Amino acid sequence: MGADPDNKNLEMPAAGVVHCRGVTKVFGTGESVVQALRGIDLDIAGGELRMLVGPSGCGKTTLISVIAGILDRDGGECRVLGQDLQALPPNARTRLRGKRIGFVFQAYNLIPTLTVEENTAVPLLIQGLRRREALERAGAMLDRVGLGGRRQSLPSQLSGGQQQRVAIARALVHEPDLVVCDEPTSALDHRTGDAVMALLREVAVGPGRSLVVVTHDARIFPYADAVSVMDDGRIVSSGPPPSAAALPTSTLPTAAFPTAALPDRLPSLPQVATP
Ligand SMILES: Nc1ncnc2c1ncn2[C@@H]1O[C@H](COP(=O)(O)OP(=O)(O)OP(=O)(O)O)[C@@H](O)[C@H]1O
Ligand SMILES: [Mg+2]
Repeated sequence: MGADPDNKNLEMPAAGVVHCRGVTKVFGTGESVVQALRGIDLDIAGGELRMLVGPSGCGKTTLISVIAGILDRDGGECRVLGQDLQALPPNARTRLRGKRIGFVFQAYNLIPTLTVEENTAVPLLIQGLRRREALERAGAMLDRVGLGGRRQSLPSQLSGGQQQRVAIARALVHEPDLVVCDEPTSALDHRTGDAVMALLREVAVGPGRSLVVVTHDARIFPYADAVSVMDDGRIVSSGPPPSAAALPTSTLPTAAFPTAALPDRLPSLPQVATP
């Protein structure tokens, strides 16, 4: 091998942000066994926003939970940010997740006894940032999701869409290298959903940094670099998203995908008033 005087190799992104081969996951035993993932191959490059779609129960949440190191896989390989999270000692895995991965849960998972500002600051406090600085940064991120005026509220005092935006602010506040979102716009009206996707793209996608979004919301497909369709524990197709111009405003663009396996339900879209 020759010398590398310009350090070009060092600048090349490693093997992408997400690299999965043959990933399997089974829940339960005996008669109640569920094969949630049946051999997932998935590569997500740095700088990419990948969306995952598919019918309810097809394994989307399971897959992103394995990717984020929240669930252990049963088989196959999975490297995320160059690491096999499952092979790391528990402390190292928790540290890496806390510092470099952000997760927006389908059910938001806010801590009910903490204020909106404190909930948002959790990843920074876990990293050992001083409380005052953590709350300042949390406040700045809350401004960006339009909730700067609700810092002292408790989650129970917010609408569903507002809680969803707190969950998004919490996932972004520590500027992670991989952000994984489970239906981040499901409770948002069109305008707020657009603003949230633009923010997610701006904050979470960059050189060596990627965003994975599970969604049933066809309106946000144009934000994706690629869309993967799942069905029954498998990825059945992946490709570029349909262009914004090709999207009908209120229906799923089923014809644009080479599969019939798209979800048959659209999210309910309560009109959430922005404060
Ligand atoms: N903890 C668990 N124990 C047992 N079965 C589970 C568990 N979590 C998920 N499953 C099963 O695994 C399969 C995949 O579930 P998953 O939550 O990944 O689906 P999904 O695609 O996210 O669905 P949805 O769109 O409804 O959120 C389903 O059949 C589900 O019932
Ligand atoms: Mg799910």
